[in-house]
Amino acid sequence: MPTRKIHLKSFGCQMNKLDSSLVVGALGEQGYELTDTPEAADVIVVNTCSVRENAENRVFSNLGHFKYLKKSNPNLRVAVIGCMAQRLGDELLAHEAVDIVAGPAQLHEVPALIAEAMGDHDKHLSVSEKIRQPAASEQVITDSHKLDDFELAYDTDANHIKSQAFIRAMRGCNNFCTYCIVPFVRGPEVSRPPEAILEQAKKLAAQGIQQITLLGQTVNSYQYKAGEKTYTLADLLGQVSEIDGIGWVRFITSHPGRFDTSILKVMANNPKVCPYLHIPAQSGSDRILKAMNRGYTTQQYIDLMDTARAIVPGIAIAGDFIVGFPGETDDDFEQTVELVRRVRYKNAFVFKYSPRPDTHSEKKLEDTVSDEVKQQRNAKLLEVISEISAEDNERFLGKEVEVLVEGLSKKPNLNRAENNNNPQLIGRTAHDYIVVFNGPESLTGQFARVTVTKTAPLTLFAAPRPSTA
Ligand code: SAH
Ligand code: SF4
Ligand code: F3S
Repeated sequence: MPTRKIHLKSFGCQMNKLDSSLVVGALGEQGYELTDTPEAADVIVVNTCSVRENAENRVFSNLGHFKYLKKSNPNLRVAVIGCMAQRLGDELLAHEAVDIVAGPAQLHEVPALIAEAMGDHDKHLSVSEKIRQPAASEQVITDSHKLDDFELAYDTDANHIKSQAFIRAMRGCNNFCTYCIVPFVRGPEVSRPPEAILEQAKKLAAQGIQQITLLGQTVNSYQYKAGEKTYTLADLLGQVSEIDGIGWVRFITSHPGRFDTSILKVMANNPKVCPYLHIPAQSGSDRILKAMNRGYTTQQYIDLMDTARAIVPGIAIAGDFIVGFPGETDDDFEQTVELVRRVRYKNAFVFKYSPRPDTHSEKKLEDTVSDEVKQQRNAKLLEVISEISAEDNERFLGKEVEVLVEGLSKKPNLNRAENNNNPQLIGRTAHDYIVVFNGPESLTGQFARVTVTKTAPLTLFAAPRPSTA
């Protein structure tokens, strides 16, 4: 029988990327292979994100295209999985293009749902009826383990990074920031047992994985009680770093509330724990932070960043900001700009506030800031962030940095002829700086030392590496 082909489209955060790899891994065990061309697929899997309206709109425009593909290939099956599937359920299932809808907690059922849909041509729905059930509920816990027990497939990532892997430390979120859909689509926080995480890390290390990134929406709240001991993120980082073959360990994303300095101490004392902290502030105005239910003030956030820099000199700090939250005035926005100037982020993402159905801010607060003003603030904040990183990155000029080489850059042929036909490669430093340089492709997945010759706000450029052959 010819191999059946899946085409995967994955939207959203790293958590979704991990889920996509697990689902593709599970389908791989059933004999499916990935294809880049939707026209060649027997099954199209769309892993979706609900965090902003435009993320959902992109999914709908893809579905429009798949509906058209089904006209010429009536055996094509389309599965919509992930956060949007949980949020919209039946509504998505009613879409002409869609055969299967499965939420983030039901992803382990996807192979069986596809097999059924292949046979009966019916529509199949599997989502959590009551997503906010208690975290201790057996259903939540067993479901989360089932998916994470699948083998990972690596080639789902756009970059084809074969030397690094994500491992889930925890799922869900209990924070209920007023703008955010995540707690409603991902359910309550559940931390995975440390043994399961370590076992997975050992297996990956044995397969040649050199960098592990531990994932959670608020990964610093990882907590697992086993007998007398409560395991924390600091414990996990230490334990994963001791595994043979693991060079670097990272974690994303941190929440500034209840951030324990034990995490910074393990970073300072353990060279394998990357000195990089993604810790979104969201706003620099106390009034807005309160309306967002973030649980800290600007000063508390600044103090935490100062502590991080005192304990881990040179630590790279990254963040996220939302501009145009309901009621945000010019003055509130200026305070955000000031915070950015004070913290000096390595990089920060900026998002225009998007009201999400049924969240507190959508129900109770009017979306007062016009799209035009949101756009202006977005552009202004990005400009300040990039100005700062341009200045700060200059300190790397002439310095040697160590990178984990991820593979070919987006422009592999750039400067190739001048460099013994060595393509342009991309790598990342422990501080998460992107470095591009020309070198032999065989460096992919290896650690390499390169000297920085030019800098830009988001990228460092390094001198070519001669062939190692
Ligand atoms: N758990 C992470 C972030 C998850 S969502 C944390 O708390 O830091 C990723 C980012 O999307 C958030 O940091 C926030 O900046 C942005 N975001 C979330 N909901 C949003 C909304 N309704 N509109 C615009 N941006 C949003
Ligand atoms: Fe959303 Fe807040 Fe949870 Fe992050 S911490 S996922 S922003 S509710
Ligand atoms: Fe999006 Fe779901 Fe992640 S809403 S940001 S894919 S948890």
